[in-house]
Amino acid sequence: MLTQSLQDALNKQVKNEFYSANVYLAMVAWFEDQGLPGFATWMRAQYQEELTHGLKIFDFILDRDGKVVIEAIDAPPLEWASPLAAFEAAYENEKAVSKMIDDLYDLADKENDHATRVMLQWFITEQVEEEASTKLAVDKLKLAGSDSGALFVLDQQFGSRQAGEDG
Ligand code: FEO
Repeated sequence: MLTQSLQDALNKQVKNEFYSANVYLAMVAWFEDQGLPGFATWMRAQYQEELTHGLKIFDFILDRDGKVVIEAIDAPPLEWASPLAAFEAAYENEKAVSKMIDDLYDLADKENDHATRVMLQWFITEQVEEEASTKLAVDKLKLAGSDSGALFVLDQQFGSRQAGEDG
């Protein structure tokens, strides 16, 4: 049985994961609008990952006989100044999510909830990947700079990402 405080925090994280999903979905639309379908494909895979993250916690709450509460989700931003700015925002978002997961783990530890700690270990490992893949994208876009040829090549490269793959 989940404690009330842990159940509340897990429900909040379901919302946070779906917010992240919507941020990346907004980026899909923005990249498509910019004529950069490869980056849009990458972000679509990221969007799908966030949905699985949210559902993983959703299912965990149900499995623990907890009460799922679907909370209102803030609207995401819709525009970014450049592809680099979009990926920098994604990287910042992932760092923020890592902190949320760490805080959740600390709470599970405090509540002595072993099952929640084990479930969150998957997320802790996943966040290492999420930060690394968005940081790598930022680094590549910085290298490309204002070279439109390099951006074109990167767009093609990013377009090969499949759903379920790290970028
Ligand atoms: Fe679910 Fe990208 O954090």
